[in-house]
Amino acid sequence: MKTDVLIIGSGIAGISLALKLNALHPNLKITLLSKTNAFECNTRYAQGGIAAVMNQLTDSFDSHINDTLECGKGLCDSEVVDMVIKQAPERINELIALGVQFDSNSRMDLELGLEGGHSRARIVHHKDKTGFELEQVLLRELKNRSQINLLENTLALDLLIKNQAGTKYCYGISIYKPESHQISELQAGTTVLASGGCGQVYINTTNPLVASGDGYAMASRAGADMKHMRFMQFHPTALYQANKQRMSFLITEALRGFGAHVEDLQGNRFLFDYDKRGELATRDVVSAAIMKHMALSNTDHVYLNLRHLDPLACELHFPGICLELKSRGFDISKDLIPIVPSAHYQCGGIAVSKNAESSIKDLYAIGEVSCTGLHGANRLASNSLLEALVYAHNVALHIASRAEEIINRKPSGSFYQPVKSLTDSDIENEITKLKTIMMNLAFDDQTADKSKALEQFKGVATRLETFLVKGNCSEEFVTLRNLTHCARLILKDTIEAGLTHTSNNLSSNKTHLIYES
Ligand code: FAD
Ligand code: SIN
Repeated sequence: MKTDVLIIGSGIAGISLALKLNALHPNLKITLLSKTNAFECNTRYAQGGIAAVMNQLTDSFDSHINDTLECGKGLCDSEVVDMVIKQAPERINELIALGVQFDSNSRMDLELGLEGGHSRARIVHHKDKTGFELEQVLLRELKNRSQINLLENTLALDLLIKNQAGTKYCYGISIYKPESHQISELQAGTTVLASGGCGQVYINTTNPLVASGDGYAMASRAGADMKHMRFMQFHPTALYQANKQRMSFLITEALRGFGAHVEDLQGNRFLFDYDKRGELATRDVVSAAIMKHMALSNTDHVYLNLRHLDPLACELHFPGICLELKSRGFDISKDLIPIVPSAHYQCGGIAVSKNAESSIKDLYAIGEVSCTGLHGANRLASNSLLEALVYAHNVALHIASRAEEIINRKPSGSFYQPVKSLTDSDIENEITKLKTIMMNLAFDDQTADKSKALEQFKGVATRLETFLVKGNCSEEFVTLRNLTHCARLILKDTIEAGLTHTSNNLSSNKTHLIYES
């Protein structure tokens, strides 16, 4: 198989790019891959919305820029922050033109939500189901464009790389089709990773199963520069489940902006003991305070209290959450909601330029899998959907400017049938073991523990590569291989930062997530 532009990922980043590129240059042959069905991705679960300065009377670019920089704790790239935030209104208006419906008031002005770390209400949203609305509209539009080839249930395995005069080039990927149990090559003029995050490295996560870090692992195995992998962001308010499930239900930050309280088991609003902003501090501060408070009081959850809020107003603004809580037996006017911080967003990733170019030629990265410099050490709420839109726009212009050169490349492909000699339950056990270790280490301050885990994961990786060489492959096998690789990247970055940046308490080797003890 051959394509001009190969996009791996059907979330907001991948689809936005495909649509824009197709409009700019209809002659480019675009192929877009999703690991399972195209609708399943982090994007569809986004609740809060997209941060943008849509009203210059009540808000300003400077204010959004300052909030982003403050949240990123000195590690943001200020030029990138400026570029992304100033593009935001234009990108939002394009979504509206495409048919995305955002909530508005009776005067038809956008209704803007407030979230932690934002000094103004600036979150453009569709009730508490912004991602669902976005993904639905984007996917519908994609399916209307017959020139874009959508390949669902197709697993990207590894990047195809050639070396020429000391420079690495990417010329496509190897793919695995679970249905036919077949591996083949998909060669491309240029390749874009839009493959989302890696929350599944942890036993508590808001991310769906597809967020197993495949893009980070593929790029890193190929030798791409990676950055800030230690900055895994934990969301403070995921629904606590005594029996761990593979994905935790998120309770949006916007609910705290709406007045919800975080309380301990004695009913104290303890967050004010840690930060004067209380519930409206940034999520790293809130997560850290909750983790510390839980450790001090020897509990494994705290509560979100909505009982003082008008239940009808809650249902109007947060229908998805209220419905989900009701289906799980909670009455928001009477019950406290148990919550626990959970792995939510990878701030680091494949290091890219403002045009989303990685350090490997003809390999771009956009969306969560990339590290653009916007987030620094900690992402400001609702800045990630925005980042994906802006970089999809930038890379579309960049690829379109090289279209003729890309179209003239003439690749070719091959395929073979792999074997399957590891059982799925063996692999499943390994995955659970890895996720539990990573969750425990996230709040552990011992470098020795991390080094030990790193060695252990190195052993697992070596064993898996031996199986791969013998021709093994399955969906579970690929997941374990990539989770192991991501866990190693996160631990390695944490340990190295601790050793080399000890003066910077952010980069201390104490933790590998955004959490300051
Ligand atoms: P995704 O939307 O995750 O898409 C990844 C795609 O890559 C999928 O199609 C997947 O199938 C594909 N893929 C992955 N691996 C492979 C492979 N090996 N082969 C083929 N395909 C592959 N951000 C905000 O700004 N505002 C919010 O309100 C918000 N709320 C959130 C709520 C939740 C519960 C979660 C989990 C995240 C939230 N975020 C929010 C973060 C935001 O949703 C994500 O950062 C963003 O959607 C990522 O988009 P993406 O296009 O990069 O990746
Ligand atoms: C949320 O709705 O709380 C998530 C927002 C985000 O992750 O940006």
